[in-house]
Amino acid sequence: MTKLTVLGTGYLGATHAACMAELGHEVLGVDIDEGKIAKLQEGQVPFFEPELEEVLQRNIKAGRLRFSTSYREAAEWGTAHFLCVGTPQKRGEYAADLRYVESVIDELAPHITEPAVIYGKSTVPVGTAARLGARARALSPAGAQLEVAWNPEFLREGFAVGDTLHPDRLVVGIDPQRPGRAEELSREIYATAIAAQTPFLVTDLATAELVKVAANAFLATKISFINAMAELCEAADADVTVLADAIGHDARIGRRFLNAGLGFGGGCLPKDIRAFMARAGELQAHQALTFLREVDNVNMRRRTRMVELTRETFDGSLIGTRLAVLGAAFKPDSDDVRDSPALNVAGQLQLQGANVTVYDPQAMDNARVLFPTLEYATSLTEACEGADAVLVLTEWQQFRDLDPADLAELVRGTRVLDGRNCLDAQRWTAAGWTYRGLGRY
Ligand code: UGA
Repeated sequence: MTKLTVLGTGYLGATHAACMAELGHEVLGVDIDEGKIAKLQEGQVPFFEPELEEVLQRNIKAGRLRFSTSYREAAEWGTAHFLCVGTPQKRGEYAADLRYVESVIDELAPHITEPAVIYGKSTVPVGTAARLGARARALSPAGAQLEVAWNPEFLREGFAVGDTLHPDRLVVGIDPQRPGRAEELSREIYATAIAAQTPFLVTDLATAELVKVAANAFLATKISFINAMAELCEAADADVTVLADAIGHDARIGRRFLNAGLGFGGGCLPKDIRAFMARAGELQAHQALTFLREVDNVNMRRRTRMVELTRETFDGSLIGTRLAVLGAAFKPDSDDVRDSPALNVAGQLQLQGANVTVYDPQAMDNARVLFPTLEYATSLTEACEGADAVLVLTEWQQFRDLDPADLAELVRGTRVLDGRNCLDAQRWTAAGWTYRGLGRY
């Protein structure tokens, strides 16, 4: 079993650290945030992710997992270091902000004296790994014995543990000019998945970096494609949910990621397609990704359309209306509100004069920080009491399971707006509600 470190303990790092320990490795998780490290060391996950807390606690107890704020300790502990810090969008620009990845290299490399490999997992612009490699070698007493490889991560929030323990593929990018131990060591670390026949692809650094952004760009494009079809359906009185089912039966197209609605948000897809466009521009290849600008536009238009649809429901004015917004997280089974379509819509509705009360099963605390001026209810019932309309903007199972007849007793107006096309329109209509979805009549 390998002694390894995980640098950065956010969604990606905390999950990777716990899951690597679950596979039997001896893991040290490192972060500069002392509060986060103290929580993790006590077995508490600072965010909502199903199953993660059990895995974390089990492995701390077993002595395979611990946390620290010291890079010196990290350098002394492991021969494999997984770089898992964030690469957010730069303020006022499309490009990714690489200051956190660079600072990990700057903090760690000077302490590395023995041969070691740093595996980057963060999503970065193509070319970053080669640059970080040169930087690490220059800073480390180990010099050329310190390798930088790229091992992109494809986990989804809400399924992070399952996706890490049973990935659908593993990709390791290695500097072809400097073949070292990176491939061999990664095969040891991922031996369980490799034994389970998980495809294991060894590439050069640039290809590995591109695989990650290409995958996210494809997913974003698929969502915006169906949302563009939703616009057409709205114009032509057709139903995008039926259309998605019908084209999804073609195995070449597939039904997954073809749910029309409010579109994509979160900490990955929106900023990744923008950073990808910015990088293409730097490489004089901007034409290749011009379509992503349209993908972004279609996506943002869905939020505006949702606000319009709500206004239409009230004959053109939202002033004085009471609206219950169900959902604040960018998707269900997560408490992440980064670039959340639901909160964005809630904020716009409020600006147009509506009294908006938000409820989410997990994301209330994060939502309050990001949108402090919205009102928040402590329960679904409280949010819906006396509402003139109920808007479902994140498709939590709890909202899908709502009984329209019961809910009708609570509200003042039986209008439901389904921003995720996740409710059974017929059932709601039969219970006396006015139902409106996106891309449906
Ligand atoms: C995404 C990718 O799916 C992961 O493979 C990747 O590892 C991750 O980004 C990352 O780069 O770290 P995630 O951000 O967790 O994962 O969320 P997704 O499940 O991809 O959903 C993104 C958004 O698209 C959500 O707002 C969701 O509501 C929306 N979506 C998804 C749709 O609007 N329609 C769909 O059919 C599917």
